Amino acid sequence: DWDASNIIEDQVKKIREEVGDAQVICGLSGGVDSAVAAALVHKAIGDQLTCVFVDHGLLRKGEAEQVKHDFVKATGIKLIAVDASEDFLTALKGVSEPERKRKIIGEKFIRTFEKAQRQVIEEAGKNGAEVKYLVQGTLYPDVVESGGGDGAANIKSHHNVGGLPKDIKFKLIEPLRTLFKDEVRAIGTKLGLPDEIVWRQPFPGPGLGIRIIGEITRERLDLLREADAIAREELSKAGLDRDIWQCPVVLLADVHSVGVQGDERTYGSPIVLRPVSSEDAMTADWSRVPYDVLATISTRITNECRGINRVVLDVTSKPPATIEWE
Ligand code: XMP
Repeated sequence: DWDASNIIEDQVKKIREEVGDAQVICGLSGGVDSAVAAALVHKAIGDQLTCVFVDHGLLRKGEAEQVKHDFVKATGIKLIAVDASEDFLTALKGVSEPERKRKIIGEKFIRTFEKAQRQVIEEAGKNGAEVKYLVQGTLYPDVVESGGGDGAANIKSHHNVGGLPKDIKFKLIEPLRTLFKDEVRAIGTKLGLPDEIVWRQPFPGPGLGIRIIGEITRERLDLLREADAIAREELSKAGLDRDIWQCPVVLLADVHSVGVQGDERTYGSPIVLRPVSSEDAMTADWSRVPYDVLATISTRITNECRGINRVVLDVTSKPPATIEWE
C-alpha cells in the first residue's frame, strides 16, 4: 500500500544521511518532476540546496519568466538562472538526428551545472568547497525508456538518464527514480506545492529541440514557439488542460507543401498537433479534442505563424508511436 507521507519521510532521512553538510544543486526545468524533487530535497537539507534553472534556448514562450517567478514564490528555494542558449544552440548546429540531439543536450546540461557550481559556492560563502551532488527529477518511466529497466530496449535517451555524459563528476540524487507521475503529483501536493506546479502538463527537458524535426535554428524555434503558444492558449481556453496529458506541437521543418494564402502561392512547413491522454506516459492514446477547438487552433496558427500553411493532427496511440516525435 502506497503512502506519500512514508515515501517523503524515508527519502528525507536518506538524503540527510547521504549529503551531510555538503552543498547540493538541483536542475530545475519548471516541470513537475524536478519541482517535486527539489521540494523533497529542500525539506531534507533546507538552504544547502540551490536550484539551477537553465535557459537552453529551447523553452516555450514565457516559460523562463514563469519558472523564475512562480517557483521561487511557491517554495522560497534559492534559484539561480543561467542563460546558456548560445552554448546549446551552437552545439546543436547542423544536428538533426534525434539521439544525437538528446546526447548533446544531456551533456550541455551537465556542463552548465558544472559552471554554475562556482556561483553556488560563492553565494553560500563556502569558498574552496565543491558541489558534489546533483538532484534530478528522474522518474521510473524515464529510466525504462532509456534502456535502464530490466531487459528494456533503448527507446530514446532521456536527457537526464541515457543522455548523461560518461565523465559526470556529480553524484546523483534521484528521489523519484522508482515512481510514476501520479505518485509524484501526490507527493508534490503533500509537500505543499501549488496546483499550478503539481498539475502542469509534462514538458521534456530537451524542450522544443526534439519537436523540430530536422535541424534546430533560432528561426525555426521562434516559429514553433508561436505555434505552440497558440495551441496551449486555445486548449486552456477550452478547459481541456486536465483532460489532456500533454500536447506536443511539432514543426516538420524539412517538409514543404503548397498552399494558398492571401491569394498567393506559399510553400511552407506543416505543424503537427499531438494531444494525448495517458496515465503514466508509458502508453498513451490520442485525445479526441473537439473539432471546433482544432479548427480555431488551425486557423490561428496558419494566420499568425508566417511560413506555416498546414496544420495536421496526429491520431496514433503509443505504442506504436511515442508521445514525442523524436
Ligand atoms: P515518449 O516520447 O517517449 O515520452 O513517449 C514519454 C514522456 O516523457 C517525456 N520525455 C522526456 N522528458 N527528458 C524529459 O524530461 C527527455 O529526454 C524526454 N523525452 C521524452 C515526454 O514529453 C512524455 O511526457
